[in-house]
Amino acid sequence: MDDLERLADDIRDAETVVAFTGAGISEPSGVPTFRGDDGVWDKFDEGQFTYGRFRRDPEGFWNDRVELQRVMFDGEYEPNAAHEALAAMGRDGYLEAILTQNTDGLHGEAAESVGDESAAEEADETTILELHGNSQRVRCIDCGKRVDGDPIFERAADGERPPTCDCGGVYKPDVVLFGEQLPGAVIQRARSLARESDVFLAIGSSLVVEPAASLPRLAASSGATVGIVNLESTPVDGSADVIVREDVTDVLPAIRDLVEK
Ligand code: APR
Repeated sequence: MDDLERLADDIRDAETVVAFTGAGISEPSGVPTFRGDDGVWDKFDEGQFTYGRFRRDPEGFWNDRVELQRVMFDGEYEPNAAHEALAAMGRDGYLEAILTQNTDGLHGEAAESVGDESAAEEADETTILELHGNSQRVRCIDCGKRVDGDPIFERAADGERPPTCDCGGVYKPDVVLFGEQLPGAVIQRARSLARESDVFLAIGSSLVVEPAASLPRLAASSGATVGIVNLESTPVDGSADVIVREDVTDVLPAIRDLVEK
C-alpha cells in the first residue's frame, strides 16, 4: 500500500484528524513563504517585526510593516486546491480542526466556499485555529478594539505611522509578533487537539518556529499517525510515520479522493 493510501485509511478510521499548516500551503496561491528560495526573511529581518520593536519604535515598525504587507499581501490571493481539499474533508466530517500558522485567512475563505453543499449530517463546523493571528485585521493595544486591516494599512501607507485608534491608542497588526506570547487559550486548545488526534497532518511548514512546531511531536508522542507533506526536510521528520515530498496541491486532493472514495 502506498503512503497516501495508508494515510487515507488511517483518516477514514480515525475519531480525530487534525491538520497543521504553514506558509507552504499558501505558496501555490502566490503568498510568499518565509524560508527557502526567495523567502520573506531574505528580504526583511525578523528583528524588524519583534514585539519589543513595536513598543520601542512604533513608527519605525510601521514603516517596515507597510513594506512587508506590500510584499506579502499585495495580490488578491485565492484559496488553492490544497485549501479546498482540507475544507471539503472538514465539511464531510473527516477533519476536526485546522491549526494554521498562516495569517492570510485562506482556510476560512476555503471553508466558506465549500461549506454550503454539506454532504455529511454529522459534520460539525471544522475548527480553524489561527495560531499566529490574522493579517487582515488590526487591534488597538489600548482599548483592544479589532477592525478590518485594509483601511488602516492604507492610512499607514499614506503616511499615518503609527496608525491610531479613535481612543488614541496605537494599532498593531492582529498577528503574534516575535517575542510575543501566543494567546494562552489558543495554544492550550491546539495542544489538546494534538494530544487527542489519531491522525496529525503537518502540511507546508518548515516546523522550526515554536511553540507551533512542537505540536506534531506532541501528537506523535500521544500515539497519532503523523504525516508530513512538505517539499523540504524538517526537524520533525524523525517523528513522522509518513513523509510526502510533493506539492500540496497534488497531495491534498489525492488524499481527499482516497478518503472519500
Ligand atoms: N508544496 C509543499 N511544500 C511547500 C510548497 C508546496 N507548494 N511550497 C513551499 N513548501 C514548503 C517549503 O519547503 C518550506 O519548508 O513549505 C515550507 C514553508 O516553511 P516556512 O516558509 O518556514 O513557513 P512556516 O513553516 O509557515 O513558518 C512558520 O515562521 O516567520 C514565522 O510567523 C511566521 O508563521 C510563520 C512561522
